[in-house]
Amino acid sequence: MTISFEGKNLEVPAGISVASALLAGGARDFRSSIVGNAPRAPYCMMGVCFECLLEIDGVPARQSCLITVRDGMKIKQQLGAPELEDINAGVNHE
Ligand code: FES
Repeated sequence: MTISFEGKNLEVPAGISVASALLAGGARDFRSSIVGNAPRAPYCMMGVCFECLLEIDGVPARQSCLITVRDGMKIKQQLGAPELEDINAGVNHE
């Protein structure tokens, strides 16, 4: 299946997490820290550290290690803090 990250298409196998797919595709900068704007990448890969946050299909602050890839997903880096109304827009997203 095909997903896009920052506008670049990646061919990925079905059934893996978004974080795994992006790491295998060479991505390293998933988000930036709210304080200091430092680049961050997945660490625990099991939903604990929140270092893997991404904007997925327009919904910010998604834990990419817990979300399975779907064909056509559009994924962007999570840069800084998301707006509250953008997070609320993702409620009932899945
Ligand atoms: S990598 Fe730690 S919560 Fe996703």
